[in-house]
Amino acid sequence: MIVEKLRRDFPIFKKKINGKPFVYFDNAATSFKPRSVIQAIQRYYQDLPVNAGRGEYDLSYQLEQEVDLARASLAEFIHASRAQEIVFTTGTTMGINMIAQSFAPSVLQAGDEIIITESEHAANVLPWYDVAKKTGAIVKIIELDGEQRLTPDLLKKYLTVKTKIIAFADVSNVLGTRSDVRAITALAHTYGAIVVVDGAQSVPHFPVDVVKDDIDFLVFSGHKMLGPTGIGVLYGKFSLLEKMTPFFTGGGMSLKFNKQQDVTYAPIPQIFEAGTQHWSGILGLKAAVDYLNKIGFAFIAQQEKQLRQYAMDQLRKIDHIVVYNPIAEAAIIAFNIKGVNPQDAATYFNSQGVAVRSGQHCARNLVEHLQVDGTVRWSAYFYNTQSEVDRFIAAAQAGRNFLDAYFQ
Ligand code: ALA
Repeated sequence: MIVEKLRRDFPIFKKKINGKPFVYFDNAATSFKPRSVIQAIQRYYQDLPVNAGRGEYDLSYQLEQEVDLARASLAEFIHASRAQEIVFTTGTTMGINMIAQSFAPSVLQAGDEIIITESEHAANVLPWYDVAKKTGAIVKIIELDGEQRLTPDLLKKYLTVKTKIIAFADVSNVLGTRSDVRAITALAHTYGAIVVVDGAQSVPHFPVDVVKDDIDFLVFSGHKMLGPTGIGVLYGKFSLLEKMTPFFTGGGMSLKFNKQQDVTYAPIPQIFEAGTQHWSGILGLKAAVDYLNKIGFAFIAQQEKQLRQYAMDQLRKIDHIVVYNPIAEAAIIAFNIKGVNPQDAATYFNSQGVAVRSGQHCARNLVEHLQVDGTVRWSAYFYNTQSEVDRFIAAAQAGRNFLDAYFQ
């Protein structure tokens, strides 16, 4: 009932494909946007289409105030102690690149270690490979055990006095498993290591408290949490942001410079926000946070848990389905139709009006662990319904007949 009411906030649910409503289970890739977010973006272009921090006129002041308000509400959303610890980025990928390029060299020397897990998304792998090459540091990749998540016990086997950075996803974008961030940061800090948490798949679904969990850096994207694309957040403890050099230089991030090339940079966070920012994105992200706050994480968690449980109960009954993450906290299921290439399976699901993602989901180091080249990924959000799961299951059941050729 509540879900049916909430779905009315999302214009996309009116859309039909081939005359039929379509079912969207690719929420780990991106989420749908409620009307309030779309309106916030439109309001910027319609009512406030100016630059902030650069103009001595009313509209510019107003935009600046609204951006400050957005920053404060993002800080509150992840329980940061100061709004200045929120740096706007284009998304998770940019956030991790900023940390790797602009912070990591301050703590890394040749032979030092960066620890990641084998389930990391490319955005949390390639920036570390790159900085390791530049600094002579070593990237150690944790092989997951039966729990398919990073645990303190697993981490202990890899930690040494040379470990300077540990970077991992709070929730895996393929396995949906959630790690105990608080226990991991506590352990990492006893070794003096800095912890970088990829929150792309957790912040939209679970309450995150950077202070209680003692997180050093947290990055996430707006578009997976009802917000616009091209906007995201890098949270860093203020003392660590002070060690970070500017990732981009340009307008808005300096107080003065001269021909002698003396530069005085703007304070944190503006020092990290060079150039005209994605103002409509920031206002849209604020509207997304307001929406999530309004419905609350208790509801989101309960709804997603029920959907996953229901989908798993049905999938278990289908002999030709193999599931790779039977236990997971997030509403993500990685599976295959036995003997069927995942891309063919996803194309088949599409023919049944069901959108799922297939392939390696940018987590290419996970292939050995899963012992398959790719999977089909089902990922739900709070606005999905049981009847949508029924349509997905009906397609999964019929898949064997449709794809019979593969079972010969
Ligand atoms: N990172 C997104 C996903 O997992 C795109 O699908």
